[in-house]
Amino acid sequence: MIQEELQELLITASVPATSAPILPVPVAPAPLTLKDIRHDTRFRTYITRANEQMQAIGYTEHGHRHAGIVSTIARTILTQLGHSEREAELAAIAGYTHDMGCVVNRIGHVEAGALMAYTILTDMKMPAGEIATVIGAIGNHEEPNGLPISHVSAAVIIADKSDVHFSRVQEKDPVKYDIHDRVNYAVQKSYLRVDAEAKSITLELEIDTTHASVTEYFEIFVLRMVLCRRAADFLSCKFHLRINGVNL
Ligand SMILES: [Fe+2]
Ligand SMILES: [Fe+2]
Repeated sequence: MIQEELQELLITASVPATSAPILPVPVAPAPLTLKDIRHDTRFRTYITRANEQMQAIGYTEHGHRHAGIVSTIARTILTQLGHSEREAELAAIAGYTHDMGCVVNRIGHVEAGALMAYTILTDMKMPAGEIATVIGAIGNHEEPNGLPISHVSAAVIIADKSDVHFSRVQEKDPVKYDIHDRVNYAVQKSYLRVDAEAKSITLELEIDTTHASVTEYFEIFVLRMVLCRRAADFLSCKFHLRINGVNL
């Protein structure tokens, strides 16, 4: 009898438990993309309001148009130079959000924007290492204190400085144009040429000199161009500026 009971126990114990709960296998969240950032209400609102506030003080356009262009150019620079897809995506995200801090104040917008992005991206569960790259790029995009500190940062610096165009002028009255407006208004075409083989990055501009002289252009852009040169160096490239077909 004992033998039979033992046999039965052994048989029962060897039957796999079919009623055990099936635990879900943890799935890593998909990496955040520019699309996620563009769809987030907080980013959308702060960029919109940042531009409204720049418009209120007569500044050039710093809204979704500028954000989109800088984002696209920053991504393109890294893609064309053969960097990883993820690094290019982070450049696109940093490029899109780089001027968001203008919603606080133009002065200090670099630091404010980096801290705002830190808060939102943390909430969106971006890994700390990626957040560090993005906020470092936002925090270093502007002269005189910004410096290229990563490939992403270097790409954002060059992309930001490349967006000079008449369509950025928000002041309606030409009489009130300041030198920033005149210089932007004078640029009829701007194109950033990246040549991976020649290791060169060239900003090509077509300027209408009836609106701003090349001297005025330099007055505004000399510091920006120094920063672009440093950024290009960081990417192992040479930076060139070509205005009206002339290499400068
Ligand atoms: Fe900025
Ligand atoms: Fe900018």
